Amino acid sequence: MKCVDDFRLKLGDKELVPIITGGMGVDISTAALALEAARLGGIGHISDAMVPTVTDRRFNTKYVKDKLKQYKFNVENSDKSVVQFNLGLLEEATKLHVGHTMDAKRGDGMVFINCMEKLTMNAPKDTLRVRMRAAMDAGIDGITLAAGLHLGSFALIEDHPRFRDVKLGIIVSSLRALQLFLKKSARTNRLPDYIVIEGPLAGGHLGFGLDWAQYDLATIVAEIRDWLVEQKLDIPLVPAGGIFTGTDATNFLEMGAAAVQVATRFTVTRECGLPENVQQEYFKASEDEIEVNQISPTGYPMRMLKSSPAIGDIIRPNCEAYGYLLDASGNCQYIDAYNREHAAHPGERRVRIWDKTCLCTHMRNFDCWTCGHYTYRLKDTTHRNADGSYQILSAEHVFHDYQFSKDNRIALPEASAAV
Ligand SMILES: Cc1cc2nc3c(=O)[nH]c(=O)nc-3n(C[C@H](O)[C@H](O)[C@H](O)COP(=O)(O)O)c2cc1C
Repeated sequence: MKCVDDFRLKLGDKELVPIITGGMGVDISTAALALEAARLGGIGHISDAMVPTVTDRRFNTKYVKDKLKQYKFNVENSDKSVVQFNLGLLEEATKLHVGHTMDAKRGDGMVFINCMEKLTMNAPKDTLRVRMRAAMDAGIDGITLAAGLHLGSFALIEDHPRFRDVKLGIIVSSLRALQLFLKKSARTNRLPDYIVIEGPLAGGHLGFGLDWAQYDLATIVAEIRDWLVEQKLDIPLVPAGGIFTGTDATNFLEMGAAAVQVATRFTVTRECGLPENVQQEYFKASEDEIEVNQISPTGYPMRMLKSSPAIGDIIRPNCEAYGYLLDASGNCQYIDAYNREHAAHPGERRVRIWDKTCLCTHMRNFDCWTCGHYTYRLKDTTHRNADGSYQILSAEHVFHDYQFSKDNRIALPEASAAV
């Protein structure tokens, strides 16, 4: 019987343990988590979601405070089109986040950044261009394009000196999305170095509608694999979403995948950015406490715990401080929902908005508990402490469990004194 360690991911001249930790914004996949995956010989993602905000927390910079000061005059105005990011500062923040992470890298693995096109930031192309180029300048090993998949993203960096050396990957949830991307980027004469195929059980935003349960990751992987063979294209495939055990991962590697991308199991590790009280919520969750809903203003369905404080929002849109989801004309679906509900309840102070949430604010505060479908199985991966809480794991333990376990087994950590 094989295990993940019997396989290697070949990327250029590198041979890696075929385990990739997925990008989880906002700073749920911290530098510490990505660096552990790299140290252990795999690939770890950091995220480029709300980097100035993350940098403030990480390095005590003042990007958010200064932006709010600059645009304070607009706080009561529902037209947010003036609230623009300063591209120079965005570049600076990205270089700080990525540069410090890359300086700390040890071992044979790699660190990639997850770049979400849906972070439109009131100037989609310009801000994406700056974020990708700054990450490349700061030495990132690879960029994974996610959430929305800007079809022209490769063109935004094709004149960068590292365009052919940095690893570039995309996340798709269907063969059709892949075909569209390849067609659109053919002009740059640059294929992706890997393709993450994200199925319907993944965490975060989904590339499916509310009929997600009708899709199956293995079927989509087989379809894409067969099409690539037909086209004589040799691009490593990386399934993601619901790969919970080393055996799940091995099954995908045996069917021709080059690596797997995993995230949920790492949400309850010390290195992960979620505060420990939130990690305990993840541990405790039962299957019926997890839902896919449409409260994300991006328009994509998102999976989360039903008990997320972000559901049933009351806060005023916070775009002067954040504004990461403002589209090219300065709109966000949460602003529309907020204005509609306040117009319907004049004079009321605490009006609840149920159909959308202020995602920037709640992701920043770890109040939107986005999670993978199998979050309800996390309790089976650790010990219960005497006080009823669950023992937090180390990223190394979870990584090694994926790498070496067989026969659908999940290795429990060494029990801590508190058990
Ligand atoms: C808490 C959480 C946050 C996530 N955030 C993002 C994100 O910001 N961008 C993204 O592309 N994928 C995101 N994902 C998806 C993961 O990167 C990964 O592809 C997927 O969750 C893997 O499936 P698994 O969680 O079942 O292992 C997130 C996943 C989780 C669990």
